[in-house]
Amino acid sequence: MEYRVITEKYFEEAFLINKEYLSASKEAFRKWYTEYPNLFVGAFDDEKLIGICYGFDSKDKDYVLLEGIATIFDYWRKGIGSDLLKKFEQQVKKREKKFITLGCASDEKTEKFYLKNDYKPTMYLARIKKKDLPASYESLTKGYDFIEKKDEDDSVKLYFKAEQYDIAKRIKLQKQLNAYEVIYIMEKALH
Ligand SMILES: CC(C)(COP(=O)(O)OP(=O)(O)OC[C@H]1O[C@@H](n2cnc3c(N)ncnc32)[C@H](O)[C@@H]1OP(=O)(O)O)[C@@H](O)C(=O)NCCC(=O)NCCS
Repeated sequence: MEYRVITEKYFEEAFLINKEYLSASKEAFRKWYTEYPNLFVGAFDDEKLIGICYGFDSKDKDYVLLEGIATIFDYWRKGIGSDLLKKFEQQVKKREKKFITLGCASDEKTEKFYLKNDYKPTMYLARIKKKDLPASYESLTKGYDFIEKKDEDDSVKLYFKAEQYDIAKRIKLQKQLNAYEVIYIMEKALH
């Protein structure tokens, strides 16, 4: 297996993997690739692209946001995702950034994947349709350390501090808030 930056020749193949496993639009994928080509890395099995990891600079100057990572299904659980992350981290270090941050998909296997690779939960992010937001949401979330609220079109985003990984606490928060999703924001300090 070889891990290297994705050149233009592999752009379409990379997008196909993104389309099957991740959610970025073609426009966004192309825009990030144009601006941050060195933050698009791939896993190659004999010249066949079988995994991608990509990101871009965050607004916070010390951070890169890992926007997506995927290995194709036949290659899961062979350590390829972890090796892709390592390659991505090397590329981030070359930009002299100190941290990688990401929003982790809300399923246990993905959470375990990042935890195993030394990413630490820092926040819960709850996304709630405005029409579903309980009026008393502040009292419903007493056990959680509220950080901020951000408005989107028909949803709100609520952020709470996370000290450690606790899947029961994530699921409880989702129920209490009537949220359509609660995810962990995770980060890793690069040394
Ligand atoms: C998440 C993903 C990239 C992991 O890729 P991978 O090549 O299988 O990763 P690795 O083999 O390096 O896995 C490392 C560890 O992650 C955890 N893990 C990964 N897949 C798992 C699964 N299906 N079930 C349970 N644990 C899993 C395990 O702890 C594993 O270590 P182990 O095999 O020694 O137990 C892959 O599952 C994927 O492409 N998923 C679809 C896209 C996606 O959800 N991306 C994340 C968006 S935030």
